[in-house]
Amino acid sequence: AGPCDIYASGGTPCVAAHSTTRALFSAFSGSLYQVKRGSDGATTNIAPLSAGGVANAAAQDSFCSGTTCLITTIFDQSGRGNHLTAAPPGGAASGPNAGGVDDTAAADGAPVTLNGQKAYGVFVSPGTGYRNDATNGIAVGDAAEGMYAVLDGTHFNGGCCFDYGNGETSARDTGNGHMEAIYFGNSGVWGTGSGSGPWIMADLENGLFSGLNVKNNPADPTITNRFITAVVKGQPNNWSIRGGNAASGSLSTFYSGARPNASGYNPMHKEGAIILGIGGDNSISAQGTFYEGVMTSGFPSEATENSVQANIVAARYATTSMTSGPAISVGSHVSLRATTACCTTRFIAHTGSAVNTQVVSSSSASALKLQASWNVVAGLGNSACVSFESRDTPGSFLRHANFVLLVNANDNSKQFKEDATFCPKVGLNGQGNSIRAWGYPTRSFRHFNNSLFVASNGGPNTFDTTSTYNDDVSFVVSTAFA
Ligand code: AHR
Ligand code: AHR
Repeated sequence: AGPCDIYASGGTPCVAAHSTTRALFSAFSGSLYQVKRGSDGATTNIAPLSAGGVANAAAQDSFCSGTTCLITTIFDQSGRGNHLTAAPPGGAASGPNAGGVDDTAAADGAPVTLNGQKAYGVFVSPGTGYRNDATNGIAVGDAAEGMYAVLDGTHFNGGCCFDYGNGETSARDTGNGHMEAIYFGNSGVWGTGSGSGPWIMADLENGLFSGLNVKNNPADPTITNRFITAVVKGQPNNWSIRGGNAASGSLSTFYSGARPNASGYNPMHKEGAIILGIGGDNSISAQGTFYEGVMTSGFPSEATENSVQANIVAARYATTSMTSGPAISVGSHVSLRATTACCTTRFIAHTGSAVNTQVVSSSSASALKLQASWNVVAGLGNSACVSFESRDTPGSFLRHANFVLLVNANDNSKQFKEDATFCPKVGLNGQGNSIRAWGYPTRSFRHFNNSLFVASNGGPNTFDTTSTYNDDVSFVVSTAFA
């Protein structure tokens, strides 16, 4: 049985079921998600390998070979057509794209295995969001509903709001109680739990709630497992937060009881849109990774949720390599040569904090050689990837800010470490490596007018142009000049 078969047996059927990694009904063999590739704009749908099984990641890999791919649709497996697509602009923010539409996720941004088979999650960077404002069967008003999501417990931030669940149909903040969604992250603006986060909380609009109190509820723990199961459910004047390790063990109940001590949340005023990766008003500052999740009709029992947790554990989520292509080994010293026809004698170098390409050779001055040489260290923000320390400025690293590549001193902040972490993959033009920003897997090192950016293929910035993209993001990595 799949999670939604279990919810159905419990009398609280799935009315939305989203996953890019596996079928959530044992009989489901339809499309899990759609990807769109950068080379020609073509799309394809990815289905499970067999009914009830893991997504056919190999089909994606082959369709996306030598180009970029984005997850354009996450299909609803429940049969109700509650599919998720790029979110429209909202009251809080417009997305980065034409018409204010949010970004969509890199199709290969969150690789994992399930029972040893490769699959991809949905890596949400700030600016990324999915939504459906015209749903079927999702709870409205004070009606009962349940939901769970499997998330990456190590990918979070304090921005508003990495959510999955019930939001406003207008993408506007229409008041307290107009949302009921799972939140995961370490925002301390509204509620908090014990420790420093991240926490599973409920986004009920104009507040992230960790229990009965509006601010702190110490029974809601900091949760840091690589894979987490997060549960939020609500019914008239009663709701719960539950959670646990999605890779082993059982769920714990972090809160169960009355609606929060604040006006507007009892009764609730749910509107029934579905959001992923954003707040109800399209607040787009948050990050996180989503693997699977559902919304139910009715308030699921703990016994039903415990069976769903056992099913998730049996799916055996596990990590896999975040890199591909020629090895860029920790401890090595490297120089990175451009491969675009204009520029094959140019290497990534820095002039102070600015990062550029410069013509460097074995006969160059030693100062220039050092400017074009980098120590490869374990990724400051994720040790599955790497960081590049300047050879002539120890303690300073390549990092992006506003998608411009810079050399800056490590200030030890979470933001710096993440901005300085890169996951090399096989070069998009077949040469060397494309060096992806860990926090923005749609974006890779790109030289553009001899300056360095982290660029996406056809994004909103001038340096995102599709023209010569594959060549501009492919660098041959060799032993350092100095
Ligand atoms: O409740 C927290 C956030 O507040 C909601 O997600 C958003 O709609 C509002 O800005
Ligand atoms: O480069 C993109 C983002 O811009 C970085 O993550 C952040 O430091 C800045 O806001």
